[in-house]
Parts: sequence; C-alpha cells; structure tokens
Amino acid sequence: MRRKIVAGNWKMNNDLSQTEALLNDLIAQVPQTDARVMIAPTFVNLFQAFNVLKGHNIEVVAQNMHQAEKGAYTGEVSAQMLKSVGVNTVILGHSERRAYFGEIDELLAAKVDTALANDMEVVFCFGEELEDRKAENHFAIVEAQLKNALFHLQKEDWKNIILAYEPVWAIGTGETASPAQAQEMHAFIRKIVSEAFGSEVGNNVSILYGGSVKPANAAEIFSKEDVDGGLIGGAALKAADFVAIINAI
Ligand code: 13P
Repeated sequence: MRRKIVAGNWKMNNDLSQTEALLNDLIAQVPQTDARVMIAPTFVNLFQAFNVLKGHNIEVVAQNMHQAEKGAYTGEVSAQMLKSVGVNTVILGHSERRAYFGEIDELLAAKVDTALANDMEVVFCFGEELEDRKAENHFAIVEAQLKNALFHLQKEDWKNIILAYEPVWAIGTGETASPAQAQEMHAFIRKIVSEAFGSEVGNNVSILYGGSVKPANAAEIFSKEDVDGGLIGGAALKAADFVAIINAI
C-alpha cells in the first residue's frame, strides 16, 4: 500500500541556529501520524538535523545530489556522503534545479540511477510550466519528463521512487493547482506508470503534489484519491503551518 507523505523542502533557507530552532518547534508540535513526515534542510545542516531529531520520527532528506560516486567535482555532494550522515532519501529534479542549474532529463536519469545504486530512495520532481499548460501541453510534458528520467528503471526499483508533481506556475506564486487539476494530473501519472510497469507499481507509488500548499488549501488537495501528500516549500518554514498541513493529511 502506498504511504501518505508530507515533506518540507526548505530550499536555501535556515542557517544552523534557525535550523535547530525550527526542528525543536517541530519536535514539540508534530503530531503522531501514520503519514511519513520529511524535512529537507540544506546540506550543511543535515548532520545537525539528525542530532536534534534523534528518536523522533521526522525523516531528514537531502535536496540534491551529484550523479558521480566521487571525484573532482568541486562543490558537489555524493550519495555516499549523504548516506554517511544518515540520509537515505534525496529530492531530485526540482524545477529550481532544472531552471537555474541546467539539470536536464538525461542528467536526472543518471542521478536517479546513482541514488538507487546506493540504496537510496528518490523523491522525483517534475511538472509543466505556465506556457505548457496554456498550450494544453501539460500532459505531454509530464509524460516526457517521467519517461526520460524514470522509464528505464526496473519494476523493483519503483519501491524506492516517490513522485512529486509540482507545476512550475504554482511554486512560490501563491497560485495552486485546483484540487481537480491536481487529481486529473495525478490520475494520469498513475495511469502511465501502471501501463509501463504494471498496476501494482502504479497503485503503490506515492504521488505528492507541490506548489503553494498552505494550511488553508491542504485538506482539499489531500482529499483527492490520487494525491498521496505534499511537497511543501514556503509553508514548511513555519512550524505551525507545516504542522497544520500534516494535520490536514
Ligand atoms: P511552495 O510551497 O513555496 O510553492 O514550494 C513548493 C516547492 O517547490 C516544494 O518543493
């Protein structure tokens, strides 16, 4: 059975003391839940995040990773480095990585392979831009993003894949996909994954929605059949908002 997940992507926010403060607030406020709760601080604070969260069931995940195992890649972070501090899950393919750091599907396919080869779980992000949706190309764009980066995988690899549909026009804009738009896309994603890898894979993969999820809209989005949770940006930076979103699931 697929799991419900609420994941907070902190992006390039929170220095060390801010990280500790937010984590302590989360420890005090995050409710007991069957859902998986994840937070993704910046690389330099991952180690301390584990220290602060010891014994709590909030999972610490990374925002990115390099595709090579090691070597002369100044400024980059490897799967092994992440694993050595306790990280077992990595976000890959975020639209900000695609837009600002030139990460294309082929590169993301390589990153996914490296993560899986290191027994890591991947939260794979994808989603169309506004002009794609206006041109009614959004299904084709999403299908291509998934095919190019994930459809070379083996069936058994999918137990370590979480999908996160994040329409670019909804990220940080205050504009969300309507619950109906999210459901329509999530059902489409589940259908194409099922067609390629079988209905067991399609039914078991968690598909998160991301893009301006807030306490006020979370419950309605999460109520949709094919929406298994959220990848939260801005609202994950305030404990009260993140906790309200967890409560909505
Ligand atoms: P916002 O929730 O700030 O729109 O960000 C969504 C996101 O990009 C999560 O990865």
